[in-house]
Amino acid sequence: MAGEKKLDEWGTRFGVILAVAGSAVGLGNFLRFPGQAAQNGGGAFISPYFCALIFLGIPIGWAEWTMGRYGGRKGFRSAPAIMGIFGRGSAARYVGSIGVLIPVAVSFYYTFVETWCLGYCWHFLTGGIGVNPQAAIAEQTGASRAFFAESTGFGADGALFRLHNLETLLFFMIVFSINISLVYRGISKGIEKFCSWAMPSMAVCALIVLIRVLTLGTPDPAHPDQNVVNGLGYMWNPNFSALGNFRTWLAAAGQVFFTLSVGFGVIINYASYLRKKDDIALSGLTASATNEVFEVGFGGMITLTAAFIFLGVTGTTEAVSTGNFGLGFQTLPVVFAHMGSLGNLVGAVWFFMLFLAAITSSLSMYQPALAFSQEALGLSRKPATAAMAGLCIVGSFGVMWFSKGGVFLDTIDFWVGSFLIFVMAALQIIFFSWIFGIERGRKEAHNGALIRIPDVMWFVMRYVAPPYLIVVFIGFCVQNMKSSAQLIAASTAAKLALGLIALTTAALLAGVRIGEKRWRAAGLDIDDKIPLD
Ligand code: ALA
Repeated sequence: MAGEKKLDEWGTRFGVILAVAGSAVGLGNFLRFPGQAAQNGGGAFISPYFCALIFLGIPIGWAEWTMGRYGGRKGFRSAPAIMGIFGRGSAARYVGSIGVLIPVAVSFYYTFVETWCLGYCWHFLTGGIGVNPQAAIAEQTGASRAFFAESTGFGADGALFRLHNLETLLFFMIVFSINISLVYRGISKGIEKFCSWAMPSMAVCALIVLIRVLTLGTPDPAHPDQNVVNGLGYMWNPNFSALGNFRTWLAAAGQVFFTLSVGFGVIINYASYLRKKDDIALSGLTASATNEVFEVGFGGMITLTAAFIFLGVTGTTEAVSTGNFGLGFQTLPVVFAHMGSLGNLVGAVWFFMLFLAAITSSLSMYQPALAFSQEALGLSRKPATAAMAGLCIVGSFGVMWFSKGGVFLDTIDFWVGSFLIFVMAALQIIFFSWIFGIERGRKEAHNGALIRIPDVMWFVMRYVAPPYLIVVFIGFCVQNMKSSAQLIAASTAAKLALGLIALTTAALLAGVRIGEKRWRAAGLDIDDKIPLD
């Protein structure tokens, strides 16, 4: 038991920052951010993005760190139990199960995409993916797309389970086993230790690829305007006339939550392993700042600049028209093919970096479910890990079997990775600033703090973030609900994906019910609403 307790603690302050930054830095930084920026007009996306970062992401992140550490002190680790303290009662515990549902359901597809990264890295190390730089550009893009369709099973349901095409499944089993064994090892020996070398390695890999991209010059003399300087301008030149486009504001807010892992149920769990006097103010800010270096500095500047240089604005916009994966998995391989003898090596470094980024994030998606099974069901580490792994493997196999067109994956991404994140973030900030109370929150956040959170941020948490979020959420629903309902009506894969989400939710709600009984039986004062201090 004493050994288990040791597993559930962070080793060092720096370690927890790296782990939270590792959770934040992921596929969202290198695939989703450039995809969203390109879909929303490049520079036009940046101002709404930074507004959402300052008025939503960073303050709600601080609230989540505070809630997690406070909940940990009261003996709880999982979002349902901790949300119960802040929302004062049973209803809050049940809605708090969203904080386990989000990470676990996102992991169903996230680990699958992580698998592509490892597969692509392997192929670049062993000769490339068959793009011939001498061929016509359409032929090169066609070869890259065909490789993508084959390795992701986007062509047909069940394609990845055919005997001649089991490679992706094999890579998935490797990736999944690494994840589960690291989570099983515990907070400090598994997650923290892995992130401590993965984060610096990722930075080195990103720097190598960035330097290569920034030294591309003007590769095609026939298109002198497609050069590095204009590529950077494509991302950085603000376009204030586009600020009136509400769609861009919605996309920016969604991106900020996804990338920071705020409103996910991850930070609340990670912070619960901190001690009362451990700093959270500077740690929260540092983790967010690190994420932004990777997102804007590396993800955006590598992907968008490279795509612009080779494809121009029209080609880049077209590459993201089918979703966020186009640039990273279909366009960049064509760019690497044009880098001469070093192309395959740069490609391997890029996909290895994506793989590391993904794994430090997916670890943080498994951990909340593990903590919840231990806490609510009273399971010891082994059976809790087995229960969590069993659920996740069923989910991921669902995503891998129903692979055609990525509809199953997109449905989970939309309902869980976007819709529910808005809901969870709204609940967190409302519970924290309106129910728990901003003054108590401020005092709690400053325990052991190495910096003072500026006064204006408390004003933002109380009066700006909640309405901002509610407006964005309503806008998101108005914009998307009709087309989503039509997709569900027309697609069996979408219905099945929703069925999987519903079953997972039912299992979690049953878990909360069992947890409540256990906590009461253990004499925890959850009925009388845990006394606050
Ligand atoms: N925050 C993680 C990412 O950006 C989920 O990929």
